[in-house]
Amino acid sequence: MKIYNSISDFITWRNTCVDQEVGFTPTMGALHEGHLSLIKKSKEQCTITIVSIFVNELQFDPNEDFEDYPRTVEVDLKQLKQLKVDAVLMPTANEMYATEFSVVINELKWSKYLEGASRPGFFAGVMTVVSKLFNIVRPSKAYFGQKDIQQLQIIKKMVSDLNYQIKIIECQTIREPNGLALSSRNQYLSDTQKKEASLLYKTLQLGATLYKNKLHFSDIKKAMNKQIKTNTNITIDYLSIVDYKSFEELNDNTIKGPIIISGAIFLHKVRLIDNIIIK
Ligand code: PAJ
Repeated sequence: MKIYNSISDFITWRNTCVDQEVGFTPTMGALHEGHLSLIKKSKEQCTITIVSIFVNELQFDPNEDFEDYPRTVEVDLKQLKQLKVDAVLMPTANEMYATEFSVVINELKWSKYLEGASRPGFFAGVMTVVSKLFNIVRPSKAYFGQKDIQQLQIIKKMVSDLNYQIKIIECQTIREPNGLALSSRNQYLSDTQKKEASLLYKTLQLGATLYKNKLHFSDIKKAMNKQIKTNTNITIDYLSIVDYKSFEELNDNTIKGPIIISGAIFLHKVRLIDNIIIK
């Protein structure tokens, strides 16, 4: 497995991979089975599999957890080696963002909602780094998780609007047996706190059941709020029912097609997100 910190060394190697189906999974490291499921899919579908590990400061708000974000490079590399990944790109921040760096990519519609509303600058940071990584790696397929469904949709939009010749492969959310979606940020939680955190998915499941039973949206939201508030350690950021494409908040009269029931909470100061897609 090749490991590159230098972008130019990586590109020299990448240029030798001709006539290959190149699969790429961008990550911020602290790898878990969720990440590994994306990489395994890439291994199945492609002849070359590349993973990047880069904790992208540009997508963190100054008061967020950039400094504390879990960094477990040694263990990550061991796992990637076991999966027989061909190359890992771990660029330094200095190389990714030179002092004079001043061009960012922005999405102007879908990113106004949910994560974009709670975390200003988040999507610009994500899109800019993913765009740079796409230009460096030049994959034919790139793998993203439904766990971050809004990120996934916005990346798909970027690929379409900016004519990237890359197929985005959508991968299911991997969960613990109690339903908690795997996340690098779960490392901040104790086992007991992880059990508490599974209430988020249970609440989204309640919303999905009530939606399928055709309850009014206002009643669904009331029931979801009531259930999640049974744990007083939880602060709700949002519990929303939105359109699958546009991320606009829906009501009984505005459902056009598939929907997403989405939630973000703080539990013991850790921010967790999850969603259920109903197509
Ligand atoms: P990160 O949080 O490390 O996630 C990398 C990829 O793994 C994303 O596509 C995410 O949706 C996917 N993923 C995370 N948890 C998952 C789970 N439980 N099941 C399935 N897939 C899961 O997302 C980012 O990094 C960054 O924003 C990035 C795209 C790398 C840009 O910096």
